[in-house]
Amino acid sequence: MSHSPRITFASPDSGLHPVVALFVGDDMKLAASAGRLGPDFAGLIERAAEGEKFKGKSGSILDLVAPAGVPASRVIMIGTGSDKDRAKTDWTMLGGKVMGKLPNGRKASVLFDLPGADANAAADFSLGMGLRSYSFDRYKTKKKTDDETEKGASDVSIHLGEFAAARKAAKSREAIYDGVIIARDLVNEPPNVLTPVEFARRAAELSKLGVEIEILDEKALKKIGMRALLAVGQGSTQDSRVVIMRWNGAKDSKAQPVAFVGKGVVFDTGGISIKPAAGMEDMKGDMGGAACIVGLMHTLASRKAKANVIGAIGLVENMPDGNAQRPGDIVTSLSGQTIEIINTDAEGRLVLSDVLWYVQDKYKPKFMVNLATLTGAILVALGQEYAGLFSNNDELSNRLFEAGGKTGEKVWRMPMGPEYDKMIDSKFADVKNSGARYGGSITAAQFLQRFVNDTPWAHLDIAGTAMGSLQSDINKSWASGWGVRLLDRLVADHYE
Ligand code: BES
Ligand code: MN
Ligand code: ZN
Repeated sequence: MSHSPRITFASPDSGLHPVVALFVGDDMKLAASAGRLGPDFAGLIERAAEGEKFKGKSGSILDLVAPAGVPASRVIMIGTGSDKDRAKTDWTMLGGKVMGKLPNGRKASVLFDLPGADANAAADFSLGMGLRSYSFDRYKTKKKTDDETEKGASDVSIHLGEFAAARKAAKSREAIYDGVIIARDLVNEPPNVLTPVEFARRAAELSKLGVEIEILDEKALKKIGMRALLAVGQGSTQDSRVVIMRWNGAKDSKAQPVAFVGKGVVFDTGGISIKPAAGMEDMKGDMGGAACIVGLMHTLASRKAKANVIGAIGLVENMPDGNAQRPGDIVTSLSGQTIEIINTDAEGRLVLSDVLWYVQDKYKPKFMVNLATLTGAILVALGQEYAGLFSNNDELSNRLFEAGGKTGEKVWRMPMGPEYDKMIDSKFADVKNSGARYGGSITAAQFLQRFVNDTPWAHLDIAGTAMGSLQSDINKSWASGWGVRLLDRLVADHYE
């Protein structure tokens, strides 16, 4: 839906658009193909740069009207530093940054050919350009013209010697791009449109890519016994759903899968423990975990990942109503454990408790990672730079931490332990759904842990990263699509 830019790879000597961006190394070393811009180009550029003290330092950008005699209208110089600097460049971020400098709605060429700027770098760069360009304008009836947007160029050719290899490498980046955009679109959608039933319908579109889809409706959920999940949805006129997605990409289709689970509260009013009015509209994003799982499954299937992967999402709406659950209610979860409801606004853990139990019991996965916009407290603890990581397994934690470093979707491990677990013992039932005020993100994680059995598990609290996101060079949207790149990297590095 979002109008994505056209990004192609071309040889250093194929045709250029009037706007040219070119890589510049330290000491004004120009991209090899810069010679195409005329015999006097290097001298002219050097003089123009001198006035601005531009030397090609990594991260610096100089935007120039092209000097006379140069066959371009505008030249944007992109400092990439020394060969060493280029070896550690985050090419995705740089792609986003450069896209932001290219004139909106125009065609542009990037002269990419400097040592170290190889095919993989170009592919990552193109991913960043695409992600930077996204905006959610489905519901704007007054469409902006291309050059009124802030999407950057609409058509970009990236020129480098290894252009054929770059085209090939870009295939997996397209899969990632599409997955992130799917996640962003889902999170940005308004809650009157994206009901649990509609969400399930959109997830089911993955069947086109060969993902097996199973949609569990309320009748099926009752039969299975997901009473904790259903209790959250019982105050809503919208039916609840659980969707199980399965991608069998491993050589052995019976090999033990890995599993990803997402919280999909399509709108969280808080229920009877209702939230204050200010900012409540943001709770349309309380399905950011589920959105990430759908985006991830899209990415894995479309790049044909050689892994068996289960994606499971719990879709409910949390509303106050005559039929809504109450503080004081006791529900028997699928696991058999009874839960005392203290606060109906601590609903995400109820949804996840049943889905986590179901997934470990039915699929016996190597591990489960769940994503959830679970607690406001994680914003207090970590701000919006890191997602909170809670886990019963060091290896899985370390792998997630490492994937976070590589993708920039960073996670920070938080403590767990029996001291915290005690805080959710209930007077009347096995467990209560909310502890005291302090350590709110940790007690939420302790709650989840009671429903994962012995399965290696990690919980990512993405309340700070999935929505109302920090703006970056690769995201200008309220919804970041956080986690798709992280988990795709986890799978690619360790499970295929
Ligand atoms: N969906 C919210 C958490 C949230 C807060 C997500 C801010 C995104 C931004 C969650 O369901 C919730 O309401 N949590 C409560 C838990 C409390 C009642 C124990 C919270 O964080 O206040
Ligand atoms: Mn809530
Ligand atoms: Zn919630």
